[in-house]
Amino acid sequence: MDKLLIQGGTPLKGEVAISGAKNAALPILCASLLSAEPLTLANVPHLNDISTMLRLLAQMGVEVTLDGADGLVLDSRALHNPVAPYDMVKTMRASILVLGPLLARFGEAKVSLPGGCAIGARPVDQHIKGLRAMGAEIRVEEGYVIARGKLKGARIVTDMVTVTGTENLMMAAVLAEGETVIENAAREPEVVDLANCLSAMGARISGAGSDVIRIHGVERLSGATHSIMPDRIETGTYLCAAAATGGQVRLTRTSSSYLDVVVDKLLDAGCEIDTERDAIVLRAPQRLKAVSLRTAPYPAFPTDMQAQFMAINCVAEGSAVIRETIFENRFMHAVELIRLGADIRIDANNAVVTGAPRLNGATVMATDLRASASLVIAGLAAQGETLIERIYHLDRGYERIEEKLSRLGASVRRVH
Ligand code: UD1
Repeated sequence: MDKLLIQGGTPLKGEVAISGAKNAALPILCASLLSAEPLTLANVPHLNDISTMLRLLAQMGVEVTLDGADGLVLDSRALHNPVAPYDMVKTMRASILVLGPLLARFGEAKVSLPGGCAIGARPVDQHIKGLRAMGAEIRVEEGYVIARGKLKGARIVTDMVTVTGTENLMMAAVLAEGETVIENAAREPEVVDLANCLSAMGARISGAGSDVIRIHGVERLSGATHSIMPDRIETGTYLCAAAATGGQVRLTRTSSSYLDVVVDKLLDAGCEIDTERDAIVLRAPQRLKAVSLRTAPYPAFPTDMQAQFMAINCVAEGSAVIRETIFENRFMHAVELIRLGADIRIDANNAVVTGAPRLNGATVMATDLRASASLVIAGLAAQGETLIERIYHLDRGYERIEEKLSRLGASVRRVH
């Protein structure tokens, strides 16, 4: 298994380009199932989660063609097997996103239940509840969600804000008969990016980005061309890495417009930030100030940036309280950060972090995607050598991370 070896203590300096958003690309790849005409995508990130999704679509009969460095053409005309098997779903929960489109276009789908993951139980009851409200017959048998039926528009109020739940229901509704209203919808920018792609394919959607999305079903969707939005979490992660090391970076092919709260917190921490149309520049102070935060659905502070802010608080001046409200078990990085000398106390879903003047390198283990990112940030800020084990988590969500960090002057090496 690959490991990452970091020689810490060097401020990050320079310019790096941000990739397309994983969490926008995954549902948009599934949107290709909704049409018999090809969907052409640009700015698709090279990530293991994307390869997993492409393998899943290909075994269903979707033809995938590469189009330049980061483009893809997906053609689901010859789809013959509307099944998502356990072996593929277990490695990536987002596979559940094929359920809504398959049911909408073919009237049937068989998708393995994703089960839990390291950060929490993560059920899909809201996806199922919404599809049932649209008239689907759904049984759960031998670990599979087996769905069939012709979908009709419905009013759906989800019990909590769910990102992939909203996306699944939106994709189901675009081909349903009549109007669907999703209330308590997720407002994440990735939901808007998916809605933009679906609209380019001929869907009639209004309200994406607000908590009420209206979809007027159409007979069929056409092909389209769409460019995936920049990854706001990758952007935030590199900003934190620069902040933690006292560096100065310019991130291109991205935008601060989806990162308001994250940028505000970095300003509170003492960083200077200039935003350009397609770039962000960050200059870190000598020593950061601690910043408290509470995660919540967009537009509040993203749970996917919680671990990275825990890492920067480990080297900041003062104490901060971090409150996680989305996932029940998302502090696994804390014990690993403590191995580097961090002072963190966990009490249920609160973490109290007291900054230390310095961290010292050690061997640590990555436990999930964003936890791994926090260990990279802490390793870059620490004195000496940090070895991060199980970095396959990082490869799920960060494109060529060691190459991008090296371009910013970090000493980072992948060890096989
Ligand atoms: C998505 C993101 C993930 C991010 C998360 C929260 C993708 C591919 N992944 O995950 O990176 O951390 O949003 O911003 O976009 N829940 C239920 N029942 C359901 C659905 C959700 O109880 O049917 C609960 C979950 O357990 C969790 C909360 O709702 O506690 C929010 O989860 P959700 O927004 O659905 O997360 P994902 O869409 O899986």
